[in-house]
Parts: sequence; structure tokens; C-alpha cells
Amino acid sequence: MGFDFDSVIDRSGTWAAKWDHTMAAHGQPAPAEAFVGEGPDPISMSVADMEFAAPPCVTEAMAARLRHGIFGYTTPSTDYREAVADWQMARHDWKIDPAWVSTHHGVVPTLYMILRNFVAEGSGVLLQTPAFPPFFDAISAHDCNVVTNELNAIDGRYEIDFDSFEQACARPDVTFFILCNPHNPVGRCFTAEELTRMAEICARHDILVFADEIHGDLIMPGNRLVPFLTVCDGTSPRVITANGLSKTMNLAGLHLSNVVIPDTALLEAFNAASGMAGEWGLNPVSKAGFMAGFREGGPWLDALITYVHDNMALFRKTCAERIPELSPIAIEGTYLQWVDTSGTGLDEETFIHRLLTRARIRVEAGSAFGVGGEGFIRINLACPRSVVTEALDRIERMLRAND
Ligand SMILES: Cc1ncc(COP(=O)(O)O)c(C=O)c1O
Repeated sequence: MGFDFDSVIDRSGTWAAKWDHTMAAHGQPAPAEAFVGEGPDPISMSVADMEFAAPPCVTEAMAARLRHGIFGYTTPSTDYREAVADWQMARHDWKIDPAWVSTHHGVVPTLYMILRNFVAEGSGVLLQTPAFPPFFDAISAHDCNVVTNELNAIDGRYEIDFDSFEQACARPDVTFFILCNPHNPVGRCFTAEELTRMAEICARHDILVFADEIHGDLIMPGNRLVPFLTVCDGTSPRVITANGLSKTMNLAGLHLSNVVIPDTALLEAFNAASGMAGEWGLNPVSKAGFMAGFREGGPWLDALITYVHDNMALFRKTCAERIPELSPIAIEGTYLQWVDTSGTGLDEETFIHRLLTRARIRVEAGSAFGVGGEGFIRINLACPRSVVTEALDRIERMLRAND
């Protein structure tokens, strides 16, 4: 069956945070300054959701659930947990016990819950930067401190400095590590060897690991997701994995995500903490959509990955041929293109300001991702091909204008 990723869908009037600019974005000028002046229609390539409609199987299941008409309290159930386990087996060859699965209202809310309940105030929290900006916010909101292990770009591929990783884990204040795999924004799918080394170090220093695998289904051809839990036994180090379909099938507004915790005591503690916060249960319409996605969404996802991969290839080819000032990093996973802009000779503020006011394109500024982000932008390429082409044309014209 063919799926349509080419149609441009107008999202105005749908309260889309990515488009309505009422939501302040990290590292962006004040929203009021976005898209000032005259010019073509703005293009938003910032926030990590897609410009594609969810798979038809998901929409139909949600519509059927809506027609039922009763939306009472809903629990994660055995059939939901089994759908999650079957999906992980089918997509990633990862065998999980359905009993390890719980749910929450999103990955960021899960992180806040973990910090609130399992990480002492004043702790050091290890992050591999550049990193997803809300990680920094979550850490400071819980009066903890960011401890940085910078990923180093070596020949265009980001690598882990394991000596500094171990030094950070050995610090007495560091008790918690946030792993992001595939990594937003640098697009790495960490290898089994890298993950094993990280797991060994975390086990040695008794570090609790939050494995954010929310982009884990969005793996570009030639790469694979190695789920972190497959390289550890789950009790040492203690691991809480977060995943789901919010990125995979563009369902972020449904506020449903999974947690996978093989350590029974930790799982019970997590569920108890959710209950204490009044955060148990899940939205029945979201649940119907997710279950359909897990059961029937594979072919749509395969087609989506091919489409996004082609967008990335087009982006790289166009930069190489016409916009050599931009150096896109090869992305192994996620639909987010990380781009080195140092070749423009412009500082970040000027470059972002020109993108907004002249090209009228909104992206994420690299400095929002912390150490190592300066001089980069993150562009969301999960959009129709015509939008990628138009954005590239505008960027080229912007850089060629004399001033
Ligand atoms: C790495 C990463 N984690 C978490 C999230 C947000 O997840 P949620 O919407 O489930 O809170 C995002 C969204 O961009 C992300 O990129």
C-alpha cells in the first residue's frame, strides 16, 4: 500500500506548538520577533514532530474508540503490554517480558518523575552533549547539576570519550545518567560495543540510567537500534527505558509513552511514585491509537523511513553542490538533521536571525543543546520533499545576497 508523504498539510488552527510560535523555543529570539517583516510563508522546521498525518490504522482505531462515546479511567492492560513487547521483538529483535512495561504521560514527564523520586537534590546528572534542551531544564528544576560528557565529532561522526565518561561516573555526586539513543541532536545510533562500555561503567559506579529511546524506531537504512537493556541485565546498572510511538508515528500530543523496567523493585517503585503523584492510568483514545500502531503500523513506518532518508540525502547533496557553507552530519537515527554552519562565517545569532527574517525558516539553534552545540543548527526533515526543496532554495538565496 502506498502512503502519502508528499501532501503539504495546513496545520494552522490546530494549536501546533511548532507553528503558532506562542511557545518560546530554546535558543530562539523571542517569539514575537519570529518571522517579522514581509516575505513568503514561514516554514517551521524546529520542534520534533512531523508534517505527516499519522498512519491510517492509528487514526481509524482512535476514531472507532471515539465513536464508543465513553472515555472513563483506563489502565495499561496485558494486551497493551503484549503489543509493546511484540513490536520491540519485530522491529528490534528485543525480547522483553510484557510485565516489565508500564506507561506514563510522555518521556519528559517520566524524566521529571524519576528525578523527583529517585535522584537526590544536589546530585550530578551526566549528559552527553550536545543534548536535548529539556534535559537541562529537568535537571535544574530538581536542583541537580548537569555534568557534561561532550561527544566529539571525529570525521563527521560523533564519538564518546570513555575516559571522561568514566571520570564523570566516578564522581561521588554523580548518581544518574541520561542516555539518548538514537541521539538527539547528533543522530548517532550507539553500537553494542559503545553501549556495553557505558553499561559496565555505570554498573561499576552504581549509576541509575534513564535510557531515552523515543527516537528508537526511526533508524536510517544501514543502521540499527541496539536497545540499552539488551547489553545489561537490567538490575546492574539499574535502567529505566522510555520509548513509545510519539516520534515514530507523530503522536506526541497524545501524551502516552512507555517505560520498560526489568528490575521488579524499581518497577514497583516507579509505579508507586506515579500513583502518589496521581499520574496513573492513560488516555483511552491514545491507547487505542498506540495499540493499532504497534499491531499494524510497521508498513507505514518502513515507508516513512525511506521517505525521510531520501529527504536527508537530498539535503546533503544540495548542500554539497550548492550550499557548501553548510555541512550536514550523517544521521543514523531520528529525522533531525544536525548541521555545522561554521562555514557561513556568521555567528549563531546573526545566522538564526537571517533565517527567520529573510528566509523565514525556523530551526533550532545549536547553542540550546549545550556544550558542543554552538555553530550548529538542527533542522527537522520529517516534512514533504517540496518543503525541503523550498527551504534549501531560500537558504541558498539568503547566503548569496550581498550585504
Ligand atoms: C530525545 C527526546 N526525548 C524526549 C522527547 C519528548 O518526549 P515526550 O513528548 O514524550 O515528552 C523528545 C522530543 O523531541 C526528544 O527528542
